[in-house]
Amino acid sequence: MLELKNIYARYGAITALRGVSMAVGNGELVALLGVNGAGKSTTLACIAGVLRPWKGDLLFHGSSILGKSPEQIARLGISLVPEGRAIFPSLTVEENLRLGAFTRSEKTEYNRNLGEVFELFPVLKERLQQPGGTLSGGEQQQLAIARALMSSPRLLMLDEPSLGLAPALVDQIFELIARLHQRGVTILLVEQNVERSLEIVDRAYLMNTGLIENQGTPEQLRAHADIESIYMGVQGKSNK
Ligand SMILES: Nc1ncnc2c1ncn2[C@@H]1O[C@H](COP(=O)(O)OP(=O)(O)O)[C@@H](O)[C@H]1O
Ligand SMILES: [Mg+2]
Repeated sequence: MLELKNIYARYGAITALRGVSMAVGNGELVALLGVNGAGKSTTLACIAGVLRPWKGDLLFHGSSILGKSPEQIARLGISLVPEGRAIFPSLTVEENLRLGAFTRSEKTEYNRNLGEVFELFPVLKERLQQPGGTLSGGEQQQLAIARALMSSPRLLMLDEPSLGLAPALVDQIFELIARLHQRGVTILLVEQNVERSLEIVDRAYLMNTGLIENQGTPEQLRAHADIESIYMGVQGKSNK
């Protein structure tokens, strides 16, 4: 479905990606893992058309999306939930959800998606008329994901959805991602929480300083002692 071929990207003089190649298949839940500054968000920015790579190619369903605008890419069905859950705080929950449906104007589909969102996020149904900014952190993250789902994305990209959430809410978010995966949503999950991510994903890529250092199934990745010490050791301490 999605394929990155040898992607290089930079911010001025800073080279953030140095030849990133990865793929996400139809219906897969794939994680892109790595410490702060590894280049994970930059990778998502390239896919979403926010940042243009200076080398390499990006394929979506076999066609290059390189150079397309963020709007064009969103209309192709790629939806990004950015880090920091960018919702509209002064708009109501309902208005936030309506904005997410911008690529699908059909009323029947809107209502069906809204029904699914209420099933997945019952708390949002209760708070429909409340301004988004009055929701708790966990609820705002749910709203951000729900808003992305309103466009029936073919690929959902989540940038550190568990960041800054209390442990109980972190559990909820990972359960939710697993549930979306079971429903057939194709997901590219960016996380620093390696341990929790490996519990739910089909495959993962480990990124460090703009390079993919390792990839494989959770079983394959866990078999690498270096990964345990570098990532799980650090994560285990900071998240428990
Ligand atoms: N807007 C920016 N301007 C300059 N440098 C940036 C910008 N965004 C990210 N970087 C740099 O690019 C590298 C990768 O950052 P990023 O993709 O945000 O990492 P991650 O999401 O894995 O934490 C880091 O060295 C970071 O400092
Ligand atoms: Mg980031």
